[in-house]
Amino acid sequence: MKVVTVVGARPQFIKAAVVSHVLRDRHTEVLIHTGQHYDYNMSEQFFKELDIPDPDYNLGISGGTHAQMTGRMMIAIEEVLMKEKPDWLLLYGDTNSTLAAAIAAAKLHIRICHVEAGTRTHSMTNPEELNRICTDHVSSLLLACTKSGMEGLEAEGLSDRGHMVGDPMYDAFLQYSVKREIKDIVLKTPDGDEFDVPDGYYYLTCHREENTNKEDALLEIFRAMESLDLPTVYPVHPRNKERASRLVRDNGFKNILLCEPVGYLESTALVRNAKSVVTDSGGLQREAFFAKKKCVTVLDFVVWPETMTGHRNELSVPVADEIIKRLNTPQVIDGDDEPFGDGNAAERIVELMERYQNI
Ligand code: UD1
Ligand code: UDP
Repeated sequence: MKVVTVVGARPQFIKAAVVSHVLRDRHTEVLIHTGQHYDYNMSEQFFKELDIPDPDYNLGISGGTHAQMTGRMMIAIEEVLMKEKPDWLLLYGDTNSTLAAAIAAAKLHIRICHVEAGTRTHSMTNPEELNRICTDHVSSLLLACTKSGMEGLEAEGLSDRGHMVGDPMYDAFLQYSVKREIKDIVLKTPDGDEFDVPDGYYYLTCHREENTNKEDALLEIFRAMESLDLPTVYPVHPRNKERASRLVRDNGFKNILLCEPVGYLESTALVRNAKSVVTDSGGLQREAFFAKKKCVTVLDFVVWPETMTGHRNELSVPVADEIIKRLNTPQVIDGDDEPFGDGNAAERIVELMERYQNI
């Protein structure tokens, strides 16, 4: 079986790492990196730390408007697919790289396997929602991480192509999150100065269009974090670097420790050792749940309802008092709750592609 995998953004490298290792044991994988994320600490560092094979194709496409990025990717991916003629196109999540590859492959009648299928926010202004819906509707094999993913497929009449496999992010968390000790992590400020992780801290990430297009949202998040009992470690996504640095400087925030993006081993170690997590990241919300850390998600839609039990993960509007109120609500953990599978999602993904390759 020959599989072309398309990745482009940070969370996709992590998911592809666990699946690629299983896939390559018994099949041929051709890896396309669209180039959507390209800084060393947003891309190559993940390939190195997670031992992901070098991409066979690096398309070098990033930036621009959504349509510009997606269109350029479609043209380049189509060319590779016509040359490689795979049995499957394997896709993860909901980025522009995912959408571009899905449309290109569907028009070439190449079977698509979509991992993280069925996830829905029901917010049509959320760019990832459009990418998910379009990708699911042109895919042949729809692999959901959780029960809510299966429900999302059912609601759109797609469940006959759907299977629940568990979450490859959970596989990755189990395999990699214990590999880096917090004492061995050296953070770097946006100016390049090194510093150690403080003894106690909150972990913040923030990169969504919803929170970074408006200055007020990020400022309110910072006001909340500044007023807490411990400092906040915030690895800044490049989308936000200029604005975050300026807001921290101009407002004299002393409790917010901005740093360059960290690798996956560092990020998961930071989650495990944090007092609590504040984020707008889909991946971070799940990792906080895996690590049993209280999470506040600054978004107005739910992405992973499974994490929202017992106040473990709560939505907040970007208003300082609201964020603080939710952070202070204690979580209640039901020890038996394992909605993201058993850590063997990668194996199931490969098995299902094998089972359906000739159907
Ligand atoms: C993308 C995904 C989002 C995902 C996130 C993971 C879409 C629509 N969005 O958002 O779903 O949660 O990746 O992190 O696909 N940039 C750099 N260096 C890099 C990468 C990005 O400087 O290595 C800058 C570029 O100026 C770029 C901007 O960040 O224009 C935004 O990057 P982009 O890939 O468009 O969106 P993300 O916010 O990363
Ligand atoms: N992450 C990382 N370094 C960072 C910030 C986050 O490795 O500096 C990891 C994080 O632990 C999670 C993944 O990146 O595994 C989430 O990706 P991101 O937030 O970029 O995208 P999303 O999950 O929201 O699509």
